[in-house]
Amino acid sequence: MTPFERIDQLRRELHEHNRRYYVADQPSISDAEFDRLLRELRDLESAHPEYADPNSPTQRVGGGLVKNFEQVAHRRPMLSLANTYSFDELDEFVQRAHDLAATTALEWSAELKFDGVAISLWYAGGTLQRALTRGDGIQGDDVVANVRTIQGIPLVLPPGAPHDLEVRGEIVFLHRDFEALNARRSSEGQDEFANPRNAASGTLKMQDSTEVAQRRLSMFAYGAYSDEQPFAAHSQAMDALAQWGFPVAPRAERWSALCRSAAELKDYLTYWDSERQRLPVATDGVVIKVDRVEQQQRMGMTAKSPRWAMAYKFNAEQACTPLREVIYQVGRTGAITPVAVLDPVWISGTQVQRASVHNADQIAKLDLHFGDWVWVEKGGEIIPKITAVDLARRPNAALRVTFATNCPDCGTLLERRDGEAQHFCPNRGTCPPQIKGRIEHFIHRRAMDIDGIGTETVDRLVDLGWVHTPADLYDLGPEGWSRLDKFKEKSVANALASLEASTIVPYERVLFALGIRHVGETVAKKLAKAFDRIEALAAASTEDLLNVPDVGPQIAESITSWFADPANQDELRRLAEHGLQFERAAPTSDASDVLQGKSFVVSGVFTHFSRDGIKDAIEQHGGRVASSVSSKTNYLLAGEGVGPSKRAKAESLGVTWLTEEEFRAWIGSTN
Ligand code: IVH
Repeated sequence: MTPFERIDQLRRELHEHNRRYYVADQPSISDAEFDRLLRELRDLESAHPEYADPNSPTQRVGGGLVKNFEQVAHRRPMLSLANTYSFDELDEFVQRAHDLAATTALEWSAELKFDGVAISLWYAGGTLQRALTRGDGIQGDDVVANVRTIQGIPLVLPPGAPHDLEVRGEIVFLHRDFEALNARRSSEGQDEFANPRNAASGTLKMQDSTEVAQRRLSMFAYGAYSDEQPFAAHSQAMDALAQWGFPVAPRAERWSALCRSAAELKDYLTYWDSERQRLPVATDGVVIKVDRVEQQQRMGMTAKSPRWAMAYKFNAEQACTPLREVIYQVGRTGAITPVAVLDPVWISGTQVQRASVHNADQIAKLDLHFGDWVWVEKGGEIIPKITAVDLARRPNAALRVTFATNCPDCGTLLERRDGEAQHFCPNRGTCPPQIKGRIEHFIHRRAMDIDGIGTETVDRLVDLGWVHTPADLYDLGPEGWSRLDKFKEKSVANALASLEASTIVPYERVLFALGIRHVGETVAKKLAKAFDRIEALAAASTEDLLNVPDVGPQIAESITSWFADPANQDELRRLAEHGLQFERAAPTSDASDVLQGKSFVVSGVFTHFSRDGIKDAIEQHGGRVASSVSSKTNYLLAGEGVGPSKRAKAESLGVTWLTEEEFRAWIGSTN
């Protein structure tokens, strides 16, 4: 056997093993044996570069960079589909199709609508030549270098297949591959992708096909065109594609089906409306197509979409899944929030396994039982909520969910005040999540903006028992901070610098940072306006408080009882000793326009300003603040510990570097 004959033989065998493994899911050799054959082929190919072939199985791993994707006109436009969301519209569509085709004896192919990116694969001479994205429907980008890395896509067609063939399909991420990709990104400190479709689309357009190969895209074919072997029906085309090694929606698992009436179509849609949650891939509906090609042609198309097909879209925002348990979270004010733990389910592209149930009344209203199938809805909030229970699916002898009696963290008996919906853990003093929550609130960017101390550090300090209140953070001092395990010199300096910077955070934000129940940012501002120093606020009567805009009886009560608590009085005294602002600053008279027309990016920690404070100062003097460095930036105002990427970018764009001292001199600041 000549080297070329062996190369050819290995390529055929490996293509077939790939198909068995990825498409048929019936491997006939071990992974090790596959690797051995692949290695042999790779060695032969590198010894004989004259036999290189972009469609060799060795090319699946990617390689080489593509600078610009070639734009290529589609052979036939890539159309979209008309959508419908209701059975009534489906009936109308079926009726219209009967009229257009002049028969009521239509067969329908119904199949899952995969939520990914459309692709058109061109085979010529039996090998993959191009892979075009949809683009504007008339022409698309040729991303074949990336598509070659997708394991299920045949690079070479088997004997019996037409030499020239166009296959259309959807490129997707299976849920498990999407999760693996995001896990890898988060471990490398990169942002996670929000949903599989965007990730698939971004991946297809990457310039480095080696990275594409590692991400493991998949494809499902849903259309085929061949002048050599025209197909009489869509279902026949799909059968042929499956035989030639393309991944198609399996009929055996009802991913596709042939239906003879609107009733059969509705049966299929109803089945997938609930079952699709369990699919390994995101779907957003079902595509319904007239099966026979000759009837399709008779019906024709509008400018945008064929008249013989339609997408039935599922309501994307809801899913039904079993309730496993209910856990209880303790907030900084001691409020207890019940959280439902669910069997993971996909809702509009994200995986959901927790839902909030608000409070005890909500649990009672839903009459929640463990094991119940619950409807989960994703609204505007980040955490989805349970909207209903499917009583028909309640397991036998299911146990009713009863609200916790004790705090899950400190064991204290929970309380529920008259007229309030929420339960509370009354153990303000030593319940760990309350302590942590209060300190995290205090250091938050919108409160004291102490960004040199992270949440993990707060957790450790509280767990060690070194810190119980915000004032303890200031008390730690250089020695205290340096005793903290794994806290290096640099971290100590950052923590101390940002604590120091917090002493100039204005009074209204200090009021907010104290974490008085019901005193949010807005109320804190109003209070600061009404009482120019904290002593006045502390001494205010309920009546005085009720005179403040936005303050009602509940807020007034919360404020008076907060100031009446000796522990809080002690905390205030200690914070004042550390120099925090407890009175309104004199109105600033030093505004100017010396920074007029200049754009600043602020980075790092400052000695005389908090992060927001320095931004305020820039604006007070007529300058503009931008969040990232661009060619339009004039100055990078750099404090301690400027981010290296900002620094590099500023240097490469020639942006002027400004220190805090230079800035203060410029605006004539003496603070
Ligand atoms: S058939 C004439 N079948 O949905 C259009 N499309 O809006 C024929 N899609 O961009 C399309 N799964 O990429 C068809 N089983 C399926 C599909 C499917 C997903 C996508 C397709 C197209 C969009 C239609």
